[in-house]
Amino acid sequence: MELEPEDERILAGEYGETRQKMMEILVALGKVFGADRLVQIKSAQVSGASYKTIGKFGLEWLEHLNARAVVPAVLNPIGMPRDRWEEMDVDPEFADKQNVVISAYERLGIRLDCTCTPYYITSPKFGEHLAWSESSAVSYANSVIGALTNREGGPSALAAAIIGKTPCYGLHLTRNRYPQIAVNIQAFKNELDIAQYGALGYHIGKLVGNRIPYFMGINPDFDQLKALGAAMAATGAVALYHVKGVTPEAKKNLFEISNLDSITVESRDINQLFKPISAEAVAVGCPHCSPEELRNIAVLLLGKKVKIPFYIFAAKGVIDANKEIVESIEKSGARVFADTCMVVSPIMERYRSIMVNSGKALAYVPDMCGADTQIGTIKQCVAVATS
Ligand code: F3S
Repeated sequence: MELEPEDERILAGEYGETRQKMMEILVALGKVFGADRLVQIKSAQVSGASYKTIGKFGLEWLEHLNARAVVPAVLNPIGMPRDRWEEMDVDPEFADKQNVVISAYERLGIRLDCTCTPYYITSPKFGEHLAWSESSAVSYANSVIGALTNREGGPSALAAAIIGKTPCYGLHLTRNRYPQIAVNIQAFKNELDIAQYGALGYHIGKLVGNRIPYFMGINPDFDQLKALGAAMAATGAVALYHVKGVTPEAKKNLFEISNLDSITVESRDINQLFKPISAEAVAVGCPHCSPEELRNIAVLLLGKKVKIPFYIFAAKGVIDANKEIVESIEKSGARVFADTCMVVSPIMERYRSIMVNSGKALAYVPDMCGADTQIGTIKQCVAVATS
């Protein structure tokens, strides 16, 4: 892999041990995946932020690093809301350890916006190179925005943040962004809810694996695209998808799809995921809620009181910019928490059954929290929480 003279100096250790180590990670990754150069990035999103997932050894590694990010970089959700962890009833011992993780990232110059929806608080643009790591954020950046990012691991995203570059391979190259399988959605003539898009993604991800799907027959809005992509990234390994006439590369390119394998989805494939509903807790905001989703929840909860814990997750920037809506939601007894989510927070492990409105949460919550998990529309979630 060809490096610029400055990068060679970093690799030789002239700018300190941490930067040298970070460059070694990028070069090793580039060699494995056949990159011929590094490419400048606009931003990074770093996973491995919850103490629940990185544990003692991940923390020790972070604490030994000594450098600062040179591009805007944000964190993935952590195990608790930074300002309200006591209200969420997080174990103080866990909170202490989580705070040490946060401090370590802060020292490295990573912004403490702990979210899987960095696109609501930064402004990635079409054609920009990024190094993001959370799978739903990667899917959204590539597919909905038309930015270019591979799905980075926590260490490689951190290395990219500190060096400001990433190896140029995979989805950074236009030739690797073409559709690989056509998905025909003929079954749904009516508009689908966000949860149904999540269920569709849950189903399709299992069928397409890591191929790039090209959807026909749907017309999703941004929140629905977010739900679709997040779930496909969870049950498959889809980091990029296209929707005919909707997503930016599908609009710009005349993809040749006549030679592709194709699959057709029946409505029963999706409907069977929506089972009879009861739960000990409800959790929505996977990925973190948009302002529109918060508004919709506020309307549905107006004048009602929740009878079981109802967790809503969103980025702190989105919560702060929509204070009145959040206050309205919380009058019902529901709680809108920043920085964390139902998968990375240990407190969800206390429930035996959880209702979600996300295909991704449907895939992850059973394993990560050990709870029976059901998917329902946001209306059904509110009904279960308040009935
Ligand atoms: Fe985000 Fe947590 Fe879901 S990181 S995509 S809310 S599992």
